[in-house]
Amino acid sequence: MLVTLKELLKDAKRTPYAVGAINVPNLEAIRAVVEAAEELNSPVILQHAEVHENLVRLEEIGPVMLDYARRAKVPVAVHLDHGASFDMCVQAIRLGFTSIMYDASSKPYEVNLAETKEIVKIAHAAGVSVEAELGHIFTSAVGGGEGRGSDSSEDYDDLEDVYTDPDMAKAFVEETGVDCLAIGFGTVHGIYLKEPKLDLDRILQIKNKIDIPFVMHGGSGVSEADYKTAIRNGICKINYYTYMNKAGGKGVIECLKKMIAGETVFFDELSLAATAEMKKNVKEAMKIFMNP
Ligand code: 13P
Repeated sequence: MLVTLKELLKDAKRTPYAVGAINVPNLEAIRAVVEAAEELNSPVILQHAEVHENLVRLEEIGPVMLDYARRAKVPVAVHLDHGASFDMCVQAIRLGFTSIMYDASSKPYEVNLAETKEIVKIAHAAGVSVEAELGHIFTSAVGGGEGRGSDSSEDYDDLEDVYTDPDMAKAFVEETGVDCLAIGFGTVHGIYLKEPKLDLDRILQIKNKIDIPFVMHGGSGVSEADYKTAIRNGICKINYYTYMNKAGGKGVIECLKKMIAGETVFFDELSLAATAEMKKNVKEAMKIFMNP
């Protein structure tokens, strides 16, 4: 059943647990994620990242995501991830997405604040939830397709403005009225190029100032213990894609090995193998998110 992000995260925050928010730029990923969520009886978030427009456009994949969400046996929110333009956010709202992320985190604070406030006004009038970002979540040069641009591993040392400032977060949330906030505490989109330096206490410090659901971006490659601490400290939504995508690739490789050995392999088999591996991977991650 299709639900709003706000509704979905209210329960997660109360319990607490975190809901997996998974990027689904193809039918294989949509099927893998919905089947995993139904088998675990867990709510889930299907999301389309604006940077994945080169893989599939919002108008093509959006209606499919919404159809799977409406028919699912578990609550599903359909979300725009890292919306960078006003047009894309409005397009998602018109399609029937139940939440959007407007990401102006690379712009100066005042601009991020003013633009996010404007988007919140429009989205809330349409009954759509809004996520924004404050701080900086690095994007790895390997597999980090959902953020914008990419950072080298050397950049990870320059941590000064990575971490979200708790007082700034409080002011930002109160001014804009966002429903949840993506915060920087050292995670990275894509494959980690070096050991991450996570500041998990920072989540608690922010929570002590402003009590709304927080979002972890760069969910791939975080240890089980760190996921659990992050959730107990206030993370209610975990954005996850790279490791699932990599698992899909592994499924295809197994099929190709058969092909190299002389067997005939049809494209259907590659699609099914990728779906099965992605489902297995995302299910393991979601099991941890459900039981911090
Ligand atoms: P990963 O690349 O770490 O899976 O993170 C995905 C993400 O944060 C999407 O916004």
